Amino acid sequence: MPALVLLGAQWGDEGKGKATDLLGGSVDYVVRYQGGNNAGHTVVVGDQKYALHLLPSGILSPTCVPVIGNGVVVDPSVLLSELSGLNERGVDTSKLLISGNAHIITPYHVTVDKVTERFLGKRKIGTTGRGIGPTYADKINRVGIRVQDLYDESILTQKVEAALDVKNQMLTKLYNRRAIAIEQVVEELLGYAEKLAPYVADTVLVLNQALEEDKVVLFEGGQGTLLDIDHGTYPFVTSSNPTAGGACTGSGVGPTKISRVIGILKAYTTRVGAGPFPTELFDEDGQALRRIGGERGVTTGRDRRCGWFDAVIARYATRVNGLTDFFLTKLDVLTGWEQIPVCVAYEIDGKRVEELPYSQTDFHHAKPVYENLPGWSEDITKAKSFADLPKNAQNYVKALEEMSGAPISAIGVGPGRDETIEINSFL
Ligand code: GDP
Ligand code: IMO
Ligand code: MG
Repeated sequence: MPALVLLGAQWGDEGKGKATDLLGGSVDYVVRYQGGNNAGHTVVVGDQKYALHLLPSGILSPTCVPVIGNGVVVDPSVLLSELSGLNERGVDTSKLLISGNAHIITPYHVTVDKVTERFLGKRKIGTTGRGIGPTYADKINRVGIRVQDLYDESILTQKVEAALDVKNQMLTKLYNRRAIAIEQVVEELLGYAEKLAPYVADTVLVLNQALEEDKVVLFEGGQGTLLDIDHGTYPFVTSSNPTAGGACTGSGVGPTKISRVIGILKAYTTRVGAGPFPTELFDEDGQALRRIGGERGVTTGRDRRCGWFDAVIARYATRVNGLTDFFLTKLDVLTGWEQIPVCVAYEIDGKRVEELPYSQTDFHHAKPVYENLPGWSEDITKAKSFADLPKNAQNYVKALEEMSGAPISAIGVGPGRDETIEINSFL
């Protein structure tokens, strides 16, 4: 049986956690392949609500093995507190596997993230302040600390020294901050070694063997396509590859093993942090989407910027990820609008443009071209099949599908596990 990728098609917070959890009961492994605790994935099971940051959403399915792949950046203190929080609520987390090659977010990465944002001033990215960018920067600069380094004190000390050499110069001389003590960092990191030891594994081998044995592996992306470091709205992006290719590099599973790529797509658009957003609303409709959709960040508690659905973005997500399916979420939030505008193209400097422009300047100038689709007022949260939806809701879904370039195989009509309409099976 094959591997599936499930990822965000917009700017994150599309409902990936709910979608992963839904499939978690039928798959053998759920793998996070990039990002870190900048993610905030909400899963609602019955009357219980879980907010996951670093752990794959499959952790809530008892039969599923959750895996943190090599492409993830791990803050050990966050991981341990997330694990104990779940244990206190009766969730068994003993099956978790963590790649020894995953990089570690240390307190100095968090400090550098916050200090650099402050110094960027007006030009800041609006990061989550979790140390994500600086940790990936160290990985690429070859001065990162990996999970496996926790098990060799001498190597760990040398690596922390190498990493702090330049950073301490920068902190003291440029940012007017105190230097970070090497011994203190080493001691803190060594303190995590024993607690993490039961989970550390050769996850590349485990996952490839599982696929050989016909097990089902689901890759859960953090963030979303337009936050991708290569394919997103750079520089207003995160520092990893949430797009489909990231699932391979971030896990050590080859692309030939992946048979399905599912894009999670919100029925409207949201974004957290700075950067261009053509369909952003600054009026009452934007406030209503935020209120009805509960659009407040799970990680930082920031209000999410809200706007209408953007089909140009959906088409782009189909292209750069090779999407085979969409999972359309939060359709219920749109109930009650008489007309629902959908962005079908952009106008850039007086010209109509159908596809996402590669030029940052053009994207900043893009004005949405809207088509109004008729809305519905009936409650759709109890709908179990496509036929249960009011005609106008059906037509909204069909129109989005036609514009977006891949079939919509499931529809979310509420936050709960069972508030989903399945059209085509994912497995
Ligand atoms: P993620 O980061 O992609 O996992 O998404 P978040 O958890 O940050 O944000 C999605 C929010 O929408 C969460 O509060 C979910 O519980 C909620 N949600 C997911 N699917 C649906 C849906 O179909 N309808 C409604 N009303 N809420 C949903
Ligand atoms: P999930 O997985 C929405 C945004 C931040 C900021 C930019 C860079 O819940 O969809 P970073 O801390 O990653 O360096 O910040 O990326 N961002 C997210 N926005 N959902 C997320 O995750 C995000 N993770 C990062 O707001 O604009
Ligand atoms: Mg989120």
